[in-house]
Amino acid sequence: MTHNPRPLVAGNWKMHGVRESLGEVSEICAAVAGGGAGEAEVVICPPATLLMAAAQICAGTPVTLGGQYCHTQPSGPFTGDISAEMLKDAGASYVIVGHSERRFGHNESNASVREEAAAAFRAGLTAIVCVGETRAEREAGHALSVVGSQLAGSVPKALSLESLVIAYEPVWAIGTGLTPTPQDIAEMHRFIRGRINEQLLGQADKIRILYGGSVKPGNAEEVMGVEDVDGALVGGASLTAKDFMAIAGVYR
Ligand code: PGA
Repeated sequence: MTHNPRPLVAGNWKMHGVRESLGEVSEICAAVAGGGAGEAEVVICPPATLLMAAAQICAGTPVTLGGQYCHTQPSGPFTGDISAEMLKDAGASYVIVGHSERRFGHNESNASVREEAAAAFRAGLTAIVCVGETRAEREAGHALSVVGSQLAGSVPKALSLESLVIAYEPVWAIGTGLTPTPQDIAEMHRFIRGRINEQLLGQADKIRILYGGSVKPGNAEEVMGVEDVDGALVGGASLTAKDFMAIAGVYR
């Protein structure tokens, strides 16, 4: 299948960052505006507390922002939660849903991830839907079937294709310094594109499939050079402009 979507490099800051960290956002914006990411789109997903301030910094630059989770409802009695509409209002255009730290740490099921993605579309956000197997699942030879059922359960049926990004993040590679082999990444991304193609009636060439899990400046070129990898979802290495831009700079 031929495909040529615009690459995407997204930084997931997780629960890191206070106002002082906004200097990194400014540096990233300046670097991207100066051509440091080539044709790639660059998205920063800071903690929600920094979104509005980051939006002011990113205004007028090519860098866009995302949230890290959204509730399924637009508003209501849900203490501590945040809605897709609120993220949009604060300046986000993306939201990560179904990250393994939410699936495991907050017991999010495929069904709830699917509703969160649908909430993102309702609010006009692009959803980055995360999938990925655990180490035990890979060792048992179940990686493809686990990811297949996550895709079937977590991707809403009614969607606009521009509003969907898939991130393959093997749980055992997140924050560990471990990464799958390029062959394993290629196999999984090909599989994901095939499955999405079945689910979305042959449109999967328009969808970006990111790899995430211990992407660093030292391995970015190899990982992002794998067939069917349309960019990266970067955790730890997205916290400094220097490392994040070294990764996004692969597309220069
Ligand atoms: P990592 O995290 O790059 O620190 O491994 C990736 C992620 O969890 O999205």
